[in-house]
Amino acid sequence: MAKIIAGIGSSHVPAIGAALDNGKTEEPYWKRVFSGFVKSKEWMAETKPDVAIVVYNDHASAFSVDLIPTFALGCAAEFPPADEGWGPRPVPVVQGHPALAAHIAQSVILDEFDLTIVNKMEVDHGLTVPMNLLFGQPKDAWPCPVIPLAVNVVMYPPPTGHRCYMLGKALRRALESYPEDLKVVIFGTGGLSHQISGPRAGLINSKWDKSFLDNLSKDPKKLTRIPHLEYMREAGAEGIEMVMWLIMRGALDDKVDEVYRFYTVPASNTAVGHIILENARKASGTRKVAGKSKRGAAGKSRQAAARKTIHRIASKGTR
Ligand SMILES: [Fe+2]
Repeated sequence: MAKIIAGIGSSHVPAIGAALDNGKTEEPYWKRVFSGFVKSKEWMAETKPDVAIVVYNDHASAFSVDLIPTFALGCAAEFPPADEGWGPRPVPVVQGHPALAAHIAQSVILDEFDLTIVNKMEVDHGLTVPMNLLFGQPKDAWPCPVIPLAVNVVMYPPPTGHRCYMLGKALRRALESYPEDLKVVIFGTGGLSHQISGPRAGLINSKWDKSFLDNLSKDPKKLTRIPHLEYMREAGAEGIEMVMWLIMRGALDDKVDEVYRFYTVPASNTAVGHIILENARKASGTRKVAGKSKRGAAGKSRQAAARKTIHRIASKGTR
């Protein structure tokens, strides 16, 4: 069966893609942002997933106001980078996994989640920026096939956090009924707090963001009860993107190991959040991203040390 081994939450700020594409990663402003993903790339290189499911939102690249599906599953063999106004980003074409995507569509739709099946789609920074942050900047090909799952968070009404969380659970059931053994990671992207227009443009709410990350890790069901208005009020109009992280979280075990967290403000006008959550590994326990500690049957003292490390990393990146 296909098995989800980990979930990754990551902002998908377009300016991060521009910084990468224009060689600005060593500039102090951007170095602060990219420094938070160094260990994540090491973790990903070590994890070597067979497939990645990337939950993201399209920014008027593949869809326009003429047609906005609530949940759109990419079932094509490939997904070219979209032209976002300055030409397509110089990133490899994303290779899909049509067989697994078709299986997911069948399973999830028969499970009463009416996904839109998309057989031709370009993908924008919402998908490619988190890919860069975790997989680096490959020249010719991304290291694994990707199944894009586009969610409407740009036009009212977006799906509720609870609906997203339950879709994550349906995705997991779909994967677990796939006949081939595959190691799958799932990305939830977008956010964290930001508002790009109107009188509150520039809004960032770090306290709310950090509480969201805490609950994502320990008490995700609490997050499923947050109404849209609270996202808008506390995290800004575009903060509603955070509901997509709940699809990722719903696909994981109820209890997960938080192996990494990073938070910094700002990138462009957005708070950048990043988290890696692993499903418990039955035999060997969980490894830390830095490879410093291995936790199996080890005592609580090591767990406490791991938590301290995570928080130290988080606070280092926080401004
Ligand atoms: Fe976005």
